Amino acid sequence: MKPKTDRRVKIGIIGCGAIGSRIARSITKDFQRDCRLTGIYDIDQNKVDRLSQSLSLSEIAKRSMTELIRSCDCLVEAVTAKNTRSIIRQALAAKKSVLCMSVGKLLNSSDLFLLAKKNHCHLLLPSGAIAGLDAIKAASLVGIDTISLTTRKPPVGFEDNPYLKKKGIDPSKIKKKTLIFEGSVAQAVKAFPRNINVAATLTLAARASQKILVRIIVSPEYKTNSHTVELTGTFGRIVTQTDNLVCPDNPKTSYLAVLSGLQTLKQYCSGVFIGT
Ligand SMILES: NC(=O)c1ccc[n+]([C@@H]2O[C@H](COP(=O)([O-])OP(=O)(O)OC[C@H]3O[C@@H](n4cnc5c(N)ncnc54)[C@H](O)[C@@H]3O)[C@@H](O)[C@H]2O)c1
Repeated sequence: MKPKTDRRVKIGIIGCGAIGSRIARSITKDFQRDCRLTGIYDIDQNKVDRLSQSLSLSEIAKRSMTELIRSCDCLVEAVTAKNTRSIIRQALAAKKSVLCMSVGKLLNSSDLFLLAKKNHCHLLLPSGAIAGLDAIKAASLVGIDTISLTTRKPPVGFEDNPYLKKKGIDPSKIKKKTLIFEGSVAQAVKAFPRNINVAATLTLAARASQKILVRIIVSPEYKTNSHTVELTGTFGRIVTQTDNLVCPDNPKTSYLAVLSGLQTLKQYCSGVFIGT
């Protein structure tokens, strides 16, 4: 009798930090029906060893990105690297699909989208810390008239921000609701690189980057990082809001962003896409 073929999607993860580790644990614990973890890699080898040991899967520890890419069908990118784009390019060039967590790196990256298309593989982008991308993408088909992203955050996390320093704003001295920024996505990305993933995800979904007005409001009263997206057009009006708690493993990351990465992977591996 022929041995049964394992048809589950083989997943490799680059970046064994907060997001990569959590995705690794979910694959081995909850997603085993549709996929299996075949490789993990990080520039910090200690992280690779710790994670593979905690999962009791020593064989998944890879010593190079090339070895990692070879081991999988789909690469989960969860790195904080300067060369993220070239990591994604290397995987797509090898005809591997990529779930990209660092969506901010995909602004002005039409070359990567074209490469994915040419090589018949997928570039998967999670919705991250915002809601309603399904409706926003649908609305973009007929055109969006106005669109704004308002981010509300506590002052913590804005210390040492060069843009605020230049403006003479000391976040620790903010005592009431204060608008610290209003401008375009391009300006927001420059001034607040930590907010780049949300702005980039909205830009790519709405296909209306010139129109998006970004506001950042800070107040010590805020206990969550919240994002309100509002748009109008011939479809009507959409308003969405998320109040995000931080990821238990990393206070810099919204928990919903990690969960959205997991859900995107689950849909891709199971082949069932709901509301995407
Ligand atoms: N899409 C979203 O809404 C969203 C939300 C939160 C975070 N993110 C992004 O996800 C990425 C990962 O976030 P995190 O919280 O897990 O970060 P983290 O700092 O916890 O982990 C990043 C890991 O990448 C590793 N790394 C850095 N350069 C590398 C390289 N060249 N090759 C291999 N590994 C490398 C680091 O050693 C580290 O272990 C970040 O780029 C972050 O901006 C996206």
